[in-house]
Amino acid sequence: MAFVNENYLKLPGSYLFSEIARRVNKFKNENPDADIIRLGIGDVTRPLPPAVVEAMRHAVEEMGRAESFRGYGPEQGYDFLREKIIENDFRPRGIDLALDEVYVSDGAKSDTANFQEVFGTNNILAVSDPVYPVYVDSNVMAERTGMVNAKGQFEKIVYLPCTEENGMKPSLPKTRVDMIYLCFPNNPTGMTLSKAELKQWVDYAREHKSIILFDAAYEGYIRQDDVPHSIFEIEGAREVAVEFRSFSKTAGFTGTRCAYTIVPKEVMLYDSTGKAHSLNNLWLRRQTTKFNGVSYPVQAGAAAVFSEEGKKQVKATIDYYMENAGIIREGIEKAGYKVFGGVNAPYIWLKTPDGMGSWDFFEKLLKAAHVVGTPGAGFGASGEGYFRLTAFGSRENTERAVERIRTRM
Ligand code: MLT
Repeated sequence: MAFVNENYLKLPGSYLFSEIARRVNKFKNENPDADIIRLGIGDVTRPLPPAVVEAMRHAVEEMGRAESFRGYGPEQGYDFLREKIIENDFRPRGIDLALDEVYVSDGAKSDTANFQEVFGTNNILAVSDPVYPVYVDSNVMAERTGMVNAKGQFEKIVYLPCTEENGMKPSLPKTRVDMIYLCFPNNPTGMTLSKAELKQWVDYAREHKSIILFDAAYEGYIRQDDVPHSIFEIEGAREVAVEFRSFSKTAGFTGTRCAYTIVPKEVMLYDSTGKAHSLNNLWLRRQTTKFNGVSYPVQAGAAAVFSEEGKKQVKATIDYYMENAGIIREGIEKAGYKVFGGVNAPYIWLKTPDGMGSWDFFEKLLKAAHVVGTPGAGFGASGEGYFRLTAFGSRENTERAVERIRTRM
């Protein structure tokens, strides 16, 4: 008899975005003529930048000729891409990284989900609430939590509420935590931390020998000064942090898949005797065992993001989405909603009217306006009473969605 990993049984029946897709498909089947606008999952709609397409086409042609064909690549990514990442995303901000501190992967979702594997199961983790569900669910699967309670919170996880009272910014934990997941610009609230605020986390982690798992997938959307683009802008972060980045939301790679994670060599994990072990070595061991790298054409495409043309094209894409964010923010605000985010992030976090539950708001929005968003409660207990819209739609759909919310809700 084969037994189940019972940790999976602790989880809700389906992943948040699968549940949304299920409900939308059901509505679509019952209302085949409904013109549904999807501002739910943070999936992009602008095409790949032409510089990326050209580089990928060229790379595919290379793969088709015996003299330039490539088989397995390095599990950690090709040097040509890792060099460009360091040169463009870090060095201009005064951050020096070694090539072997950059790990190219197929996505920040997989990296944030997989990274916990090298940590002991007895670590206590802290997450913001609301939170991107992958951080929690992957730790539940790995037996790092207890059971779930009626509020949907798991035993042994320290939830850090992000509320209107604290400006949607998590406060430092009051009890010891070992693994801290931070995501800024934040998914789902769209809010950011200042450098001084992020420094408090780095100081906490240094004092407690905790590790910060910093998800910076939305870094490209930062518009305001004093918002750190990388946790490594903060003094001491190299000792206590890893950072996840992605090409998905900037260069349209949600379907193409390419991301990277920075693991500085100073970061240590400890065994039961107190001996330190390099997190970088552990992650290398994990990746070389379980991952065979991102395909050459995709990495060639990602490298083209850093060409002069590529940079211009990516900037145009991000500007386009941020204009959408402004349209949603202003339109929804004018319609009388209280709104957060959307200034340094492609997510707009709105308060549901009259204390309406977020899933009720989801259903009403779908039925009355044929617009799909994401219920805040799907991101955690503190998300109840809030709702997320993404700025990743087309301009036309974004404008139509705002108009429908104004007139039909
Ligand atoms: C979201 O909608 O929160 C994103 O699509 C998450 C992701 O990138 O996996």
